[in-house]
Amino acid sequence: MRTQVCIIGGGPSGLLLSQLLHRQGIDSVVLERKTKDYVLSRIRAGVLESGLVDLMREAGVADRLDAEGYVHDGTVISTGDEEIRVDFRELTGRTVVVYGQTEVTRDLYAAREAAGGAILYEAEDVTIHDADGEAPYVTLRTPAGEVRIDCDFVAGCDGFHGVSRKAIPEEKRREFEKVYPFGWLGILSETPPVHDELIYATSDSGFALCSMRNAHLSRYYVQVPMEDRVENWSDDAFWDELRRRIPAPVAERLVTGPSIEKSIAPLRSFVCEPMRWGRLFLCGDAAHIVPPTGAKGLNTAASDVHYLYHALVRHYRDGDDAGIEGYSAQALLRVWKAERFSWWMTTLLHHFPGQSAFDRRMQQAELAFLRDDRAAQEAMARNYVGLPY
Ligand code: FAD
Ligand code: DHB
Repeated sequence: MRTQVCIIGGGPSGLLLSQLLHRQGIDSVVLERKTKDYVLSRIRAGVLESGLVDLMREAGVADRLDAEGYVHDGTVISTGDEEIRVDFRELTGRTVVVYGQTEVTRDLYAAREAAGGAILYEAEDVTIHDADGEAPYVTLRTPAGEVRIDCDFVAGCDGFHGVSRKAIPEEKRREFEKVYPFGWLGILSETPPVHDELIYATSDSGFALCSMRNAHLSRYYVQVPMEDRVENWSDDAFWDELRRRIPAPVAERLVTGPSIEKSIAPLRSFVCEPMRWGRLFLCGDAAHIVPPTGAKGLNTAASDVHYLYHALVRHYRDGDDAGIEGYSAQALLRVWKAERFSWWMTTLLHHFPGQSAFDRRMQQAELAFLRDDRAAQEAMARNYVGLPY
């Protein structure tokens, strides 16, 4: 089999890249280790920057997003019972859209299938060959047998545990990592959201987040110790803990119900440099991870896709390789800013095991500065709605 771009990973990065390239007449094959149903059962991010919304429109897959997504003009950061509202629209003229990653992925799969795009599911033993040469190829096993795909370029969109990053020789890459000593226990429940905007809550018992998918579907998270297990948390225990961490008036109007999904995600900051090796490009979680505070994971994957898409279009349309040569540096510049913002929000809002009274006062002083200083709010808002591509 031959294609122009072999895309490893059928998550949001891989599918969006494939669909954007298709619209420019560039051919790709997507390799996904799991089944489509499995990918669509994963509950992940929920907040889209306008850059990602624009990319979805450019990819021709934004009809449902435009009809069903919820535009949010701001967010609330609470500390104890105090609520600080950050007005994105007023501070930046921009907003974010609440629309689940699951729906983004669903819309992209539908578009790739409608266009007859090649997606090979249940791909095992995916191996990249000669990425630093002129003629790379990828081998794999599918339920139908062994496959070899010859291509011009390989896009590694296979997430943190994928094979693409490891295909760059160890001496050619450098990895930066910070693991946080806690995780997020998240639940999805068929209840109305407690507020019409997200609430990022810090309290003496730790962090909590009130989020949503739509008017009847809520997503809530509480910070839990790193070694905690989902089995330790009944729904009632979750709701009790959430109520403790959010402002009392908000807790009073919280509508609870059975969880329809419950999982724990670890918190990690991670960056691999560079993001290109020869004809192999890393995109999204394959190259970097952020802690979820600030909702930058999916959005940073989208900015990588934007840079890579334009680089490939320049290559094929104009015979100009400047975008390809510059991809890693350009993507990393924005990645590190998203890393900084996610680290800052995580550090500001979580309870760290062993943190001193001084450390807590520093968090409180930072929150007071954010409450009282317009420039501080503007800096937060500009990062939250997404830095320019
Ligand atoms: P992924 O979504 O990981 O997609 C990679 C795909 O590649 C997967 O479908 C995988 O099955 C496939 N794959 C892996 N290995 C191979 C292989 N060897 N061969 C072929 N295919 C392979 N971000 C937020 O902003 N907010 C959140 O609340 C949030 N929650 C998260 C919870 C969890 C548990 C995780 C893991 C991430 C979360 N994120 C969140 C981050 C966000 O979901 C990711 O940034 C986003 O999914 C990145 O998209 P991606 O396409 O780069 O990677
Ligand atoms: C959601 C997740 C986040 O990490 C975040 O910062 C905001 C919202 C969510 O799943 O809805």
